[in-house]
Amino acid sequence: METCFTYHEGRLHGEGVALPEIARHVGTPLYCYSASMLENAYKAFSEAFSSVPHMICYAMKANSNQAVLKLLASHGSGMDIVSAGELQRALVAGVRGEQIVFSGVGKTREEIANALDAGILCFNVELEAELLILSELAQAKGLVAPVAIRVNPDVDARTHEKISTGGFKDKFGVPISRAQELYKLAASLPFLEVRGIAMHIGSQITELGPFETAVSRLVDLVHVLRSDGHCLRHIDVGGGLGVSYCEEMQVPFPLPLEDYARMIMRLTSGLGLGLILEPGRLIVAHSGLLLTRVIHSKQGEKKTFIIVDAAMNDLIRPTLYGAYHAIKPVCEVPDSLPWLIADVVGGICESGDFFALDRRVPSLSSGDLVAVMTAGAYGAVQASTYNTRPLIPEVLVRGSCFQVVRPRETCEAIIARDIVPDWLT
Ligand code: LLP
Repeated sequence: METCFTYHEGRLHGEGVALPEIARHVGTPLYCYSASMLENAYKAFSEAFSSVPHMICYAMKANSNQAVLKLLASHGSGMDIVSAGELQRALVAGVRGEQIVFSGVGKTREEIANALDAGILCFNVELEAELLILSELAQAKGLVAPVAIRVNPDVDARTHEKISTGGFKDKFGVPISRAQELYKLAASLPFLEVRGIAMHIGSQITELGPFETAVSRLVDLVHVLRSDGHCLRHIDVGGGLGVSYCEEMQVPFPLPLEDYARMIMRLTSGLGLGLILEPGRLIVAHSGLLLTRVIHSKQGEKKTFIIVDAAMNDLIRPTLYGAYHAIKPVCEVPDSLPWLIADVVGGICESGDFFALDRRVPSLSSGDLVAVMTAGAYGAVQASTYNTRPLIPEVLVRGSCFQVVRPRETCEAIIARDIVPDWLT
């Protein structure tokens, strides 16, 4: 997929808009998304599966801005949700109940009830107690709840331990050894209808092997379940496909989408099941960047620090997962000028507040703009107001236009959320 973040006349652009223009109007830091890249990523994913009946339920936890959801929904995307809040966001964006699957290891009764009211396509159930509650709540509402069991196939996804979800040490899913039992229970409960089978083994997975092993195990299980008399309609293979965060490598996807799609289709096509896919990162990661301004360049005794106005509260991935994000100067710097090795850091009072360590960067000084690339997924959605730093704006670019799709929060709004008890006033 081609990037829409390119240099024109020495300045980094988002589609047809120069990033310094956006910074001038909106201030920094900010998240900037490219509508074309979003659309292209969605279309490429859908295209890869076009030869089989499939449904894409975008994992909206990756980026749940209404503008992003509406754009994807306008191309026919469904949603994978994990909370009542996400359900509400999806419905507000115009996604229909029958395009929504509900994943999540700890769904509350209230969340289940809301999703039943919305008439969602499927509950991906994680444990026996959830089946019982779902049946009870469906009965109370005079409904039949559609269910799939999320199976834990015990596969090492070979990704960061914090985002591995398909091994027996992880809290997710029903161990594959117990799945038959759970299906038997589900089938015995009159207010449940068994619809499918589901899995999700982790995120930022860059090898085909773990997916192949996991899907094969599920396919074997499908045969067993059918011989037990269950009538399955779909297989949900989750999300997890990784992207390349290292721009220098020039490969947007370390695991080619076509190879992934071909493997999934090869393993599942003979089953006569509909295919559900839950990509998150792959759809939005490349289409976003974090635009930030250098406050100071500081020469320490042992290191140089580029201190920028964004911080770990805006993008936590580097410190939480040791994630690499390419960093680009917004004004192009010729390679002939001196570059240096520096830490690019935020202003928060923790040494873990960094975007890059020991990175080769041009010699940046106060006022220069830099872009932290590939920040469209799990960026804004994981932001916090730590250090009473307001949530930063999100901007969507399309062609030569841009629009703020979430304004900068104010300190007043943050403070106004607190309530001082009567006895203190
Ligand atoms: N389906 C389920 C049930 C999930 O839990 C997830 C992600 C997805 C689909 C989408 O996975 P993706 O295609 O985006 O890999 N905050 C972390 C990533 C957490 C992923 C959680 N689950 C990060 O910044 O790397």
